[in-house]
Amino acid sequence: MYDNKDFVINTADLKAGEVCFQAPSNIALVKYWGKHGNQLPNNPNVSFTLDVAKTITKLSWSKRSSINSNCEVVLYYDGVEKPAFADRIIKYFNKLNLIYPFLKQVSWRIDTHNTFPHGAGIASSASAMAAIANCLIAVEELWFTPLEPNERLRKMSYLARLGSGSASRSVYPEIAAWGESTFLYGTSNEFAIPLKDCLHPSFKRYKDSIFLVSKAEKSVSSSAGHGLMENHPYAKMRYELANKRYNEIITILKTGKLLDFCEIVEADALDLHALMMQSTPSYMLMEPATLAIIKEVKKFRSETNLPVCFTLDAGPNVHLLYPESIATKISDWIENVLLPLSPGGVIHDQMGNGPTESKL
Ligand code: PMV
Repeated sequence: MYDNKDFVINTADLKAGEVCFQAPSNIALVKYWGKHGNQLPNNPNVSFTLDVAKTITKLSWSKRSSINSNCEVVLYYDGVEKPAFADRIIKYFNKLNLIYPFLKQVSWRIDTHNTFPHGAGIASSASAMAAIANCLIAVEELWFTPLEPNERLRKMSYLARLGSGSASRSVYPEIAAWGESTFLYGTSNEFAIPLKDCLHPSFKRYKDSIFLVSKAEKSVSSSAGHGLMENHPYAKMRYELANKRYNEIITILKTGKLLDFCEIVEADALDLHALMMQSTPSYMLMEPATLAIIKEVKKFRSETNLPVCFTLDAGPNVHLLYPESIATKISDWIENVLLPLSPGGVIHDQMGNGPTESKL
């Protein structure tokens, strides 16, 4: 879709330089789980873009001494060189070579920082790949021509998707949908689209308090998890259900029925983890503390009728979703009941505005 042989630079004139952007994580309401082809989702999915949990990435370049078939990248995470992360980016840059032939022409250095523990199910790959995609767009615009604003975001989403599927959604403010659906105009498997304009006012500045049940690296990566969906006995049923839930949640996001929202979001989170438990080999990412928090959330909602619900990513941490209007009302319950159950504490996050230029 974006192949361009003209994106070649004259390296004789190249001056070293850098760009720096931050991109947020996101939390899926209806999850992407299972993929095909070149990082294409098996069902449409939708997420809130976060604000506090983000990745800040500086991409620097300099002349490359000799050119070979691999891109040249070194990567530093909080000032420490990380060859394994660099290898992942080299694979990603090699994959983008048809879009950006200049990727092989120069030597790249990436400096990056997360505001949250990576590998703990707070979609660190989403914010990381969205931040890199934003840096690449900035380099394209610096060396070639500025893009029209909507096209800029669409291309950023496309590039981010090739790094990590869920990253395609992190480029948009507030809420984004990724994956083809006949229910929503303009959707695509290749890039996410913004949904901000559809959002009912009750969802504005929606809160996500993330309970860090475990900061440890997860035992099974998301890519391995997607792979296990290939011969999964419940795959067909999962995709049918996910499509149905997606349609329902899109309607709810427009109409603002918050208790209905809670039911769907929780059901989809539990499905994700049930699918993991039913994979071959099976695995479990929830911890006892995950279940303890979930039980308290369900109990609290049935007692108070307040629209508080949980969701989970591919990890043990619990995301507590609630509208801004009840934040004060539930703060004591969060402090006194949920926080003591969460060994790693909590990150109070909320809907955010997407990537911006930054400093590192
Ligand atoms: O983008 P990936 O490959 O890390 O997969 C993410 C999958 C979930 O976070 C579990 C769900 C989602 O839609 O974000």
